[in-house]
Amino acid sequence: GAPVEVDISKLEDGQMVRVEWRGKPVWVVRRSQAVLQELSTHDSELRDPSSEEPQQPSYAQNEFRSVKPEIFLALGICTHLGCSPTYLPDSFNQQVSGVSSGFFCPCHGSTFDMAGRVFAGVPAPLNLVIPPYQFLDDNTIIVG
Ligand code: FES
Repeated sequence: GAPVEVDISKLEDGQMVRVEWRGKPVWVVRRSQAVLQELSTHDSELRDPSSEEPQQPSYAQNEFRSVKPEIFLALGICTHLGCSPTYLPDSFNQQVSGVSSGFFCPCHGSTFDMAGRVFAGVPAPLNLVIPPYQFLDDNTIIVG
């Protein structure tokens, strides 16, 4: 499949744009400073907080799992059985203090934080997959 270009110039804090790459949904979310700060509050609640599992791009092996902290990309596919989780920007129902937003999979209840890291004790075994991407310039991302 061809690479896909994403214009993020109008993407505001908390907003998500969805694109399709190789037939798969790719999410692009602009994370606010508050959301970025929340990412360090709940490592003990996560199955793989440092994304040590194999097959993660090297630029996803940092605390934000991204090239630029504020811009998050992930495949919108649950790592359990492949449903597409719902983005909950301000009504996340995970019982973890200090986590106000995240992703919820309606199929069997898996939950992921704003870096796509899976919470412990849910069916999904792995963090959300980070696709290959790069920045062409400040406002343009190439997925693939
Ligand atoms: Fe997402 Fe089962 S497919 S929890």
